[in-house]
Amino acid sequence: MDEHTPVLVDETLTALAPEAGGYYVDATFGRGGHTARLLAALGGEGRVLAIDQDREAIAAGRQRFADEVRLALVHAPFADLATLVPAHSQGRPLRGVLFDLGVSSPQLDAPARGFSFRTDGPLDMRMDATRGEPVSSWLARAGIDEIREVIAELGEERFARRVAEAIVNARRAAPITRTLQLAEIVARAVRTREPGKHPATRTFQALRMFINDELGQLERGLAAAADLLAIGGRLAVITFHSLEDRMVKQFMQGLSRVDPELARLPVIPPSAEPRFRIVGRKARPSAEEVASNPRARSAMLRVVERVR
Ligand SMILES: C[S@@+](CC[C@H](N)C(=O)[O-])C[C@H]1O[C@@H](n2cnc3c(N)ncnc32)[C@H](O)[C@@H]1O
Repeated sequence: MDEHTPVLVDETLTALAPEAGGYYVDATFGRGGHTARLLAALGGEGRVLAIDQDREAIAAGRQRFADEVRLALVHAPFADLATLVPAHSQGRPLRGVLFDLGVSSPQLDAPARGFSFRTDGPLDMRMDATRGEPVSSWLARAGIDEIREVIAELGEERFARRVAEAIVNARRAAPITRTLQLAEIVARAVRTREPGKHPATRTFQALRMFINDELGQLERGLAAAADLLAIGGRLAVITFHSLEDRMVKQFMQGLSRVDPELARLPVIPPSAEPRFRIVGRKARPSAEEVASNPRARSAMLRVVERVR
């Protein structure tokens, strides 16, 4: 129950090309699958700063890596990388950063965390249960248009209006406090099922992304990582759905091309040359990986390297 099978591990390690003795950041520690492989590649002088905004992840990591002096484990949101890295690096150049986005299996599988529409639990969905508000309290007070917008934009749900209306009607009768209660409200409102998908999939994804400010976190985390990397350092990002992947793709393309305004000049000034280059093509899990870990199904890995 407390296990997470890391995705695209070999591909990520190849992409980060860890250097013995280097300093690396795992921005999404989870249960430490990627961190363990990084540490194994780094030798005695290597160091990893691993971050997670979930206290349970950090507590499990402190047990698993109790004797690991090369690892610093920090409970924090990765949007704070710009302050976390200088505070922990002791001046070491940063050779690589990994983001493996979304939620872990222990989060999804624990009914008490409220992420799953398949098991009953309190409608919470916060990765950091020490801050912010649970989905249930936001749904109790949000306006119908706000709810519709979140579900339409973050869930890319065609029937967002119907779902929002169903939520607002249902909460007049009784507060919506449980995951299965919400899943049923949505299933009654969205009768058209996408093959293999529960009708509440999109709504749950949207509410999770909203309550954890996932796109805001990602925007700040990526910008900080790009600024912090040393020349030759690599940024690897694993995403699980199209909204995240679009943001990462656009961010990486922006980093690795000449400013379009300056690109029109006959001679491009050296200061306008891109600071990054894209490494390889987007990687997807193999059929074998998906067969043994269905949660890897939608994973995509993108990588850039700082060149100046
Ligand atoms: C897919 S799991 C990572 C799994 C990990 N690579 C492993 O091998 O076990 C994502 C983890 O990132 C954490 N997380 C997601 N967004 C975060 C954020 N903005 N700041 C810090 N941690 C975050 C989640 O709490 C979760 O534990």
